[in-house]
This record gives sequence, structure tokens and C-alpha cells, in this order.
Amino acid sequence: MTQIQRITIVGGAGHVGLPLALVLADQGFHVDVLDVNAAALATIKAGKMPFREHGAEALLQKLLPTGRLNMTSDNAVTALADVVICVIGTPVDEYLNPETYLFYKVIGDLRPHLRDGQTLILRSTVYPGLSAKIDRMFREEGPRVHVAFCPERVAQGQSLREIHELPQIISAFDDVGIAAARTVFGRISRELIEVVPLEAELAKLMCNCYRYITFAIANQFHMIATDAGVDFNRVHHAATHNNPRTSTMPRPGLAAGPCLFKDTMQLAAFSNNNFFLGHAAMLINEGLPQYMVNTLKGKCDLHKMKAGILGMTFKADCDDIRDSLSFKLKKLLQLEAKAVLTHDPFLKSDATIEQILNECDVIVVGTPHKEYRGLKIPTGKIVEDVWNCLGK
Ligand SMILES: NC(=O)c1ccc[n+]([C@@H]2O[C@H](COP(=O)([O-])OP(=O)(O)OC[C@H]3O[C@@H](n4cnc5c(N)ncnc54)[C@H](O)[C@@H]3O)[C@@H](O)[C@H]2O)c1
Repeated sequence: MTQIQRITIVGGAGHVGLPLALVLADQGFHVDVLDVNAAALATIKAGKMPFREHGAEALLQKLLPTGRLNMTSDNAVTALADVVICVIGTPVDEYLNPETYLFYKVIGDLRPHLRDGQTLILRSTVYPGLSAKIDRMFREEGPRVHVAFCPERVAQGQSLREIHELPQIISAFDDVGIAAARTVFGRISRELIEVVPLEAELAKLMCNCYRYITFAIANQFHMIATDAGVDFNRVHHAATHNNPRTSTMPRPGLAAGPCLFKDTMQLAAFSNNNFFLGHAAMLINEGLPQYMVNTLKGKCDLHKMKAGILGMTFKADCDDIRDSLSFKLKKLLQLEAKAVLTHDPFLKSDATIEQILNECDVIVVGTPHKEYRGLKIPTGKIVEDVWNCLGK
């Protein structure tokens, strides 16, 4: 088995990097958390998580006294590592093209510190073929770093549990790289799936696209049922109850966040924009906020109404606002309603729940946080709740 003691995680203070750093340090590796975000590093050093992640703060506080976690902004630390894990990804730009500038810049900045024999594991979601390009660059220009691609697939908030429970896809361009990936992930994952890098890159993207498309199916069904004057919750129950062929049909809701949209557009760009299903899903999911506003316009004179949005983060019981569709909803409501107030238990809000319930004429659920489930809505309010979070 390959001897690996020290690991650097580039982007280690972020949502993917930090939970992985904690899990690896807990397994006995020495982990350098390398990040440009000095404020996040200081928070971590003080024993606090910079974002919510179930069970992570307790694990961080347990690990800090061991000395196995080191927080730094100095790229030179990578020279000490046996394995460098990079979680910087390739987002899509305003034209929905893959944006590789930051990724190449990070690799370029690390290169002078890397040395022959190290393994570089790419862990973020990347445009297919990017790992091969990085591997070629190191083969041609040195140092002789062994490149692997081992994608993260966990759900934010559940990372600590899912890093152990979800099978880990591993891939590399040579025997040294795959042996290093086996050693690192063999220590923390229950099951390893070995494929070649392009297969791993596509598998990761397709996981997210699949989820995004299934959410779009539920959202389109919701729109069809609502336009027909029918409550989709009743249709969903009738279609899925005790039916093994449909039981996994999701419920409608704002499908957002930093991954699903981006990765669907990434696969669309890779397939020469012939990924019609992905583009259709994007139109449906991104169109839901406008559909919600139109539904409200059908129920009342929205321009005379004060609207309140409950929930602004991108998913329930999470403090992350990245690419949250609640903000799109807010902008659209601001075009139509007299005033818009928002509340979120994880953010600085412009109103309390009570103010939303009492002062607003229209109440819209943006994110179905636990806190909102079963809320008693005063009579006479107009409610738009595609999630059925408030219950009927
Ligand atoms: N969030 C998720 O649940 C999730 C799950 C699977 C895959 N991914 C993928 O993982 C990648 C990262 O996502 P994330 O959610 O962790 O993002 P994030 O923004 O939370 O973390 C990225 C981190 O990288 C740091 N960083 C930026 N430039 C740097 C540099 N030059 N040197 C060192 N650090 C630098 C940032 O400060 C930040 O802390 C994306 O490609 C994403 O699609 C995310």
C-alpha cells in the first residue's frame, strides 16, 4: 500500500474541502487546509465552522488539539504533501460556457511548489476532459505529478456521513495515481468504484443532471396540474402512493444551488449544446419563480399587496445562499407587488416570521425550512407554497 501521511486540500475552507479535511484528519492523516479566504481560516482555527455542516463543529473541536489540522494561505505547504487534493471547480459563466480561468490559475500557482512523485487529486466537478489536460501538462512540462480525478458527490449539510457511506468514484492516469487514490479514499469510504477519468467526470456530472431533470419533471407536473385547476399534492399522492415505479418522483420546489444548474449547463456545453433534456430542465426550473408570481397575479391584485417570502437560502435547513432562486423570486415580486419583505432563520432578515404573517397580504414559501413547517397562517392571507411546506 502507498505510504501517505500528509495531505494538502486546496480550497480547504470551503463546503467540499473542509468536511473532507476533517474526515481525513480524523482518520490520522496530517491535513493542511490551504485557502485564500483568511477570514474562514481564522474562524476554523477558533474552532468554529464558517458554514453549517451537520456534526462538523464538534469534530473540528476534537481535532484541533491533535495538531493534525493546519490552516494556511501559503501555497508552499503543498511541497510537504504526499497528496494534494484540489477542490476548485469550473463554474459556468454568464454565457453558460465552462469558466476554466480560476482552475488553471490555481494549478499554475501551485506548480512551482509541487514535486516529482506527488499525486494531485482533482475533486471538484470539472468540464469533461479537463483532468486529461492537466495530466498532459504535468507529463510535458513537469514536475512528474500523478493526476487523479475522484469527484465529491455528497449533499451539503450531510457531508460527514455521506463521505463514509456513498461509494467513492476513483480514477487516475497511471498506477501511482490510482494507488494513492485507493489509499486515501480506502481509509474513509465504504466502497470504491474504479473507472477511467473521463468516465468519472461524466458520472459526476450525470448524477447532478439527473437530479436537476427529475426536479424539473416535478415542477412541470405541478404547473400542468395547477393550470388545470387541480392540487398537485393530491395528484402526486395518487400517482406515487405504494407504487414502486413512481415512488421516487420528487415534489415540486425551487431547484437551485451552486451545482445542479451549473453542472447541467456544463454537460450541455460538452455535448455541443445538444443536451435538449438539460436545457428543457433549466427552462422549467428557472421559470418556476415567474410561474409562482403569475399564479399570485391570478389570485389577487398583486400591485396592491405587500408580499413576504419565507426562506432565502438555496435549500432547506442550510445557510448557503449561492444561486438561490428565492432571490430571483424576490426580484420578480418587487416588479409586481407594493412591497416585499423576506425572512430566513439563517440570514439577517428584514422581517421576523410574525411580521411576515401579520403584515403581509401575500405569503410565499421560498425555502421549506423546518421552522416554517405547520406554521399557522392567519385567515385571509394569500399563500403560494409549491413545496407544500405549510401543509394543507
Ligand atoms: N457544495 C457541494 O455540495 C458540492 C458537492 C459536490 C461537488 N461540488 C463541487 O466542488 C467545487 C467546490 O465547491 P464548494 O461548494 O466547496 O465551493 P466553496 O466556494 O464553498 O469552496 C471553494 C473554496 O476555494 C477557495 N479558493 C478559491 N480560490 C482559491 C485559491 N486560489 N487557492 C486556495 N483556495 C481558493 C475559496 O476561498 C473557498 O473556500 C465545485 O466545483 C462544486 O461544483 C460541490
